[in-house]
Amino acid sequence: MPILTIESTCDETAAAVISESGTVLGDCIATQEALHEKFRGVVPEVAARAHLERILPVIDSALNQANITHREITAIAVADRPGLAGSLLVGLVAAKTLAVAWEKPLVAVNHLHAHLYACQLANDCNIYPCIGLVVSGGHTSLYHCHDPIDLTYLGGTIDDAVGEAFDKVGAMLQLGFPGGPAVSKLAERGDRNAFDFPRSLIKADNFDFSFSGLKTAVRYAIVGPGHQDFSKVEIAPQTKADLCASFETAAVDVLVSKAARAVKQLQCKRLIVGGGVAANGYLRDQLKHRAAVDGFELNIAPMKLCTDNAVMGAIALEKIKRNDFASLELDITPGLQRGF
Ligand code: KG4
Ligand code: ZN
Repeated sequence: MPILTIESTCDETAAAVISESGTVLGDCIATQEALHEKFRGVVPEVAARAHLERILPVIDSALNQANITHREITAIAVADRPGLAGSLLVGLVAAKTLAVAWEKPLVAVNHLHAHLYACQLANDCNIYPCIGLVVSGGHTSLYHCHDPIDLTYLGGTIDDAVGEAFDKVGAMLQLGFPGGPAVSKLAERGDRNAFDFPRSLIKADNFDFSFSGLKTAVRYAIVGPGHQDFSKVEIAPQTKADLCASFETAAVDVLVSKAARAVKQLQCKRLIVGGGVAANGYLRDQLKHRAAVDGFELNIAPMKLCTDNAVMGAIALEKIKRNDFASLELDITPGLQRGF
């Protein structure tokens, strides 16, 4: 019997219907990119209101695709953490209301664990235990994953997430929002050594990351210290490409180096990688290269499951197997603190 999964942690409103064996029967995502583009970043208030408008049509669409009615649903799973408070609340209230009205049990999904579980969905054999690297717009974290839902946090960013750095660099270069895909595309024809950007914490004996210094270094390379108005700066097309390539290389160097160190130090055989930035082609190539050199297994989330979606909410099936249901008292956990 299938479950309904709901995702609204940031700026995608998504719902999916997934069979007991993990087959995707229905999958609907309403993106808000166009709404946030003019602000060059996600505006929480705008995101929450847009979720409110879209959540029910998105759920309806997922059920219609699956060609089932709510009667055939056995449980309702919802991402309750981490994320933007207003966005999370819309998904949670929708899930709780439907759980009461349809008399279905509720399952709480950790959005970051779900990003990693996207790797399992693309594999027939069990990929746990392993090291997990989450690279998204809001998080950059390393975990020791004992199984899909039992994870030990090893370290994470002490300031900006890597996706946020991609987006800010995109904004500085006026490449639109979200900047990640555009920066990555331009980087393909840039010189990766044109600018010597910092690889913060790459040698630190821990699993933490820092990307704000890298972001500032790009800013200084464009406007110099003290200047803020990027719109008045003319940058030659090749220089833009070189900035993107040098930035991407610095960010990816740190991610690959720290993830590989975690695999080695914790004596794991496998690295799994999820989150929006896992769609980055250069990161995927460098990870594959490092896995081949160091001799560990690598699973990166399939491209369409990298950015936010409700299909990865299939992790709820693992909780259901363990009878791990949430009560109707379930509240959101935005999870702004480190170590989440
Ligand atoms: O996982 P996600 O959809 O949302 C969060 O949970 O935050 O990740 C969104 C992030 C954005 O920062 C976006 O720019 C980045 O993923 N992203 C990329 C690429 N595709 C998406 N960053 C670099 N290269 C890409 N190809
Ligand atoms: Zn995400």
